[in-house]
Order: sequence, then structure tokens, then C-alpha cells
Amino acid sequence: MTAKKLHYFSGITITVFIVFHLFNHLYGLLGPTAHIEMMQNLRTVYRNVIAESILLLAVAAQVTTGIKLFIIKRKSATGFFDKLQIWTGLYLAFFLVMHLGAVFSGRFLLNLDTNFYFGVAGLNIFPLNLFFIPYYSLAIISFFGHLSVVHSKKAKNDLFGLKPEKQSYGILIIGILLTLVILYGLTNGFMGVEIPNEYNLGVGL
Ligand code: HEM
Repeated sequence: MTAKKLHYFSGITITVFIVFHLFNHLYGLLGPTAHIEMMQNLRTVYRNVIAESILLLAVAAQVTTGIKLFIIKRKSATGFFDKLQIWTGLYLAFFLVMHLGAVFSGRFLLNLDTNFYFGVAGLNIFPLNLFFIPYYSLAIISFFGHLSVVHSKKAKNDLFGLKPEKQSYGILIIGILLTLVILYGLTNGFMGVEIPNEYNLGVGL
């Protein structure tokens, strides 16, 4: 199988998880307890050896093939969507390695429940939030940016009178708006969430 095909299939696998994962974070608008309850429900699906192994293998395939495709395409990328594709892809590769490294260190080295408080600790502690706000925001925007590029290359038909190119910009704009709403929820309306002491150590990445 070529790197491009593998990247496509592992991308679909990861996307299924990310859609539910971001829905979980959107649910944070209802407060930490609601977020934790939703995560517990979702964990019944992905927190088991089979689902997590598939997800981690898909992430490994996505990152390695993604870096390979970045190197191949770096020089020939021209135009907005080509450039968006390689740079959002590179950021997602960096983010996925860091984020999973943090989640698994929190779980197995620090023995923490990697729940809402683990995820949002860095977003709510100054000056760490100066790093974590752009770090998480760029991840969500890059995810939608990467999807918008796929759409721009595959879509052929107008939708609601919009040409495929406009639809693709729409996906990117939805991603930016969703990022703002998710961060609003995870920071208690930008007022700050009080982080339990044990999570001040194990700041999520
Ligand atoms: C606001 C942004 C985000 C926060 C606060 C966050 C937080 C978390 C937390 C707390 C976990 C652990 C889940 C658990 O223990 O059940 C987790 C897992 C994970 N996150 Fe995120 N995340 C964010 C965005 C993202 C994005 C944008 C991606 C992908 C591009 C992503 C990919 C993953 C993956 C693959 C896992 C591992 C799931 C597993 O195998 O247990 N996250 N995240």
C-alpha cells in the first residue's frame, strides 16, 4: 500500500475518534461534571485493548506517512489549499505525538485519571496558558483545516448554491468558530477553572 493510501485510511480511523473527542470537549460547556460523565460514557467504547490499539496504530501510521508526504510535497505545494494541507498536517503530527505522550504519561507514570482536569490544567494556569491556548486551538483548527483541504480536492457539486471551494472555506471557518466555543467551555467562559492540586503537577499536553 502506498503512503498516501495508508494516510487516507488511518485518517478516517482517527477522524471517527476525534469527532467524538471534540464533541466531548464541546460538552464541557455544561461544566466539568457533565464533561467527565460524557468521557466516562465514551470510554466504554475506546478505553479497551482492541479500540486503543487500533487507534494508536492508526496515529502511528498517520504521523509517519504524514511526515513522508510533507517532505515530498513541501517544494511543489502552491496555492492556499496545498499549503494549508502540508502545514496543518505537520502541526497535527507534532500535536498528536506530544498529546498522546502526555496522556499516556499522565495515565501510566503519574497514575492520574486523564479526565477534564488533566486536559484543561494548562489552559487555566497562568503563564502555562500562554502556551496551551494556542497549542490546543491550533490543533482543532488544523484538524478542520486538513478536512477542508480533503473536501476541496474531492467535492464536485455545489451545495446550497456554494461552489466546492467556498464549501471548503466554510469547513475551515466552522473549525475556527468551534475552537472558540470549545475553549470558552474548557475555561469556564474564559474566567478560569479551579484545578485540583493533583493536576497542577500533571499538566496535560
Ligand atoms: C481542547 C483540546 C483538547 C483537549 C483538552 C484534549 C484532552 C484529552 C484528554 C484529557 C485525553 C485523555 C482521554 C481519556 O483518558 O479518556 C485525550 C486523549 C486523546 N486525544 Fe485529546 N484533547 C484535545 C484535542 C485533541 C485533538 C485536536 C486531537 C486530534 C487531533 C486529540 C487526540 C487525542 C487522542 C488520539 C487521544 C488518545 C485516546 C486514547 O487512546 O485514550 N485531542 N485528549
